[in-house]
Amino acid sequence: MSSNGANVLLVGQLYQDFILHVDEFPAEDAKKRASKLEIRSGGNCGNTLMVLSQLPSVQTWCMTSLGPKEEAGSLLLGLENQGVHTSTCVFHDHGVNPSSYVIHAANTGTRTIISYNEAQDITLSDFQQKVETAMSDTKQHFTWVHFEGRNIDNAVQQIDWMHNKAIKENWRDRLTISVELEKPDRENIDTFLDKGDVVFFSKLFAEKRGFSDAPSFLKAYSTRCRPKSILFCTWGAQGATCLQRATNQILSAPALNIDQVVDTVGAGDTFTAGVIYGLSHGFNVLDVLTFSCELAGRKVAQTGFDQLKQQLDARWNKALDESHHRAFT
Ligand code: FRU
Repeated sequence: MSSNGANVLLVGQLYQDFILHVDEFPAEDAKKRASKLEIRSGGNCGNTLMVLSQLPSVQTWCMTSLGPKEEAGSLLLGLENQGVHTSTCVFHDHGVNPSSYVIHAANTGTRTIISYNEAQDITLSDFQQKVETAMSDTKQHFTWVHFEGRNIDNAVQQIDWMHNKAIKENWRDRLTISVELEKPDRENIDTFLDKGDVVFFSKLFAEKRGFSDAPSFLKAYSTRCRPKSILFCTWGAQGATCLQRATNQILSAPALNIDQVVDTVGAGDTFTAGVIYGLSHGFNVLDVLTFSCELAGRKVAQTGFDQLKQQLDARWNKALDESHHRAFT
């Protein structure tokens, strides 16, 4: 089936992001002018896709739940212009499309997000139908399916179905299922722990569970994850850590040193794109970590996600070209 690189499906929620850049976070009830307004498609899966779709030999699909198709145009356009397939999106006749209002404070680099979402959850039958159609249209199976940590009860059914289908059809060894545990208070989020071949944790998740560093958090949580899984935990300006359950080896990489924090919205999602790319293209785990930290750092140093690949150190552009070459020879 697929020999030409990675076929990656991301399942999550797209948002229209309205990002207001201010010098410092306002006091309650204050009236303030922003220096810049950016309107772009966001949501964790959208951000990850904007990065992944710039890299060579990856085909990307987005599965998200939206309101009426006619009103979702601008939300999808940014992704479609990057070559992301949106035939896997699920539309509903009613409801407004999800949006987020982000206050980005220049003095601290914080991004305070208030989101609004009334989209209906993606059901198992939506998922089955979209996956079957995409795979039969392309005559290829997905090589990676990533699930955002939301809509957990449905997502668990979707993961189990995907896992069993791939076993039955004999391609489970060429499929990676990854799960994200970013928001610690999401209902039933812990049921995701043993669902991923790759598991992404946030600093917020680890801290809320009582840990103050990534290695001790990963060590403590690893026994609840799948025996051969690879776990990642990002830690903002301190970089990221990875634990491989097969060997219990822990590796860390520092964050990229950057002159100025420009835009932190989607930094973690950019890291996720780096990991999906690197593991799909045979990078070793330390390279995966270093590459993903560099990618996230470059993103923080610029507004939005455009042209991120061009910002990478020459070493990584060489590695990307080589992985592209390998995929097609
Ligand atoms: C950043 C982000 C924004 C989005 C919000 C949704 O990680 O994905 O793009 O509006 O979080 O929670």
